[in-house]
Amino acid sequence: MYAPGNKVNQFKEFLKYRRDPIGFFKENIQRYGELVHLKLMGKNIFIIAHPEDAEYVLQKNAKNYIKGRSTKKTSEILGDGLITSDGANWRKQNQMIRKSFSVKNIRALAPTFAKHADVFSDNLKDQSIINMHEYLHKLSLEIVMDSLFNLDIKDFNSEIHQDITNFLEHIIVITRSIIRTPEFIPTEYNKKIKKSKKNINTFIENIIESRKQLIQTGANIPTDLLSFLINKENIGGMSDKQLRDEIVTLFMAGHETIANTISWTFIELCNNPSYFKSLQELAHEVFKNNEINLEILEGDNLARSIINESMRIHPTVWVFTREAIDDDSLRGFKVPKGSMMVLAPYFTHRAKNLWEQPDQFMPERFSNIKNINSEHKGIKFYPFGYGPRMCIGNHMALIEAQIILLKFCINHRFTIENKEELKENPGFTLSPLNNYMMKVHSLK
Ligand code: HEM
Repeated sequence: MYAPGNKVNQFKEFLKYRRDPIGFFKENIQRYGELVHLKLMGKNIFIIAHPEDAEYVLQKNAKNYIKGRSTKKTSEILGDGLITSDGANWRKQNQMIRKSFSVKNIRALAPTFAKHADVFSDNLKDQSIINMHEYLHKLSLEIVMDSLFNLDIKDFNSEIHQDITNFLEHIIVITRSIIRTPEFIPTEYNKKIKKSKKNINTFIENIIESRKQLIQTGANIPTDLLSFLINKENIGGMSDKQLRDEIVTLFMAGHETIANTISWTFIELCNNPSYFKSLQELAHEVFKNNEINLEILEGDNLARSIINESMRIHPTVWVFTREAIDDDSLRGFKVPKGSMMVLAPYFTHRAKNLWEQPDQFMPERFSNIKNINSEHKGIKFYPFGYGPRMCIGNHMALIEAQIILLKFCINHRFTIENKEELKENPGFTLSPLNNYMMKVHSLK
């Protein structure tokens, strides 16, 4: 037996999804339950909001659920990097790259996160009004470039920010469109995307080339991720195409997600301003004597709880997909081979039967993170995914996000200027839709 759902092959339904993806999922989950079976354009699609089903697909029977065709469109942009690859290729790359994200290596990067966050925090002027999302985007891009590739973004073409934004928007266009104007037709849009792709490829090629030259001259080589990927053995080992794909993947995955997460965190803080004072006190403790107390940042503390609560309500990877390679079943409901599985943490994170007052921002519920997924069967909180394909950057993300949050709050608090216009933008990642403006209030 199939799970409840809409079995009618409706083109109209797809248009609904395109217009309002969150509304489309929400309506189906409310109508049919936490596992929904849809038949869209001839395909079996399952929306998974049930914690046991999510655990089953992502861990218990992960071998049956691959990225496969479900990420085919994303790989047009990201290539065959860690996020989109499967099988032997994924295993090989995963083994190598995961090592470089060890707790020890991320600890060593904390001063780099703090150095950039300090500059951005010091540049905040009292009573000024800033576009916080854009500001955080620039900061997280600087951090990812410096910490993973030891490069200064300012040395590159200043249009690169816009090229990246175009690139990310193009992923959404690709995944939501049924018919696309072929790329060779020179529409204004195609020309814009072509130019951005070219700029990004040149940008990545420059990164690779400059490091290869450094290695060949035998100069003092930085111990960053890039050195890991392009070490002497790898020159000639990993193809340039593979290198390009891994770098583009890490660079995209490593800054957009963090910028969104901190953006949402500031929005929630502006709506719950009583936390600013406690964060300021915590910041003084963490950065005492010009050091970074990593023990505090690695344990349960208010900044971490605030970020987790913000990721519960606004998980930046709000849905993601798998393809079933064989017939299977979820809690007795049939799943045919070839089905597309849509994991929907956004909805599990807000389910009334799993969370007390799910619409309320209550960081205290994360004061002991270990309890969160042990309270129920399955996984009810998984902003970083789960199982063998879980995010490799989760430790980095949590340390970096806490450092930025605390550096910004040590001397400032913020208020939202255009509160009423705030909306979610459910693209490839979940970001705030409008350019929301925040007013800076310096505390000194
Ligand atoms: C708040 C920040 C972040 C969030 C919420 C996040 C979320 C996720 C999620 C949900 C997945 C699993 C997707 C799936 O199973 O299909 C994932 C995978 C991944 N993430 Fe992150 N991520 C974040 C930051 C980062 C950072 C900083 C990096 C690296 C610099 C990174 C690199 C990756 C990679 C390479 C994968 C693919 C892992 C694999 O399939 O083996 N992420 N991320």
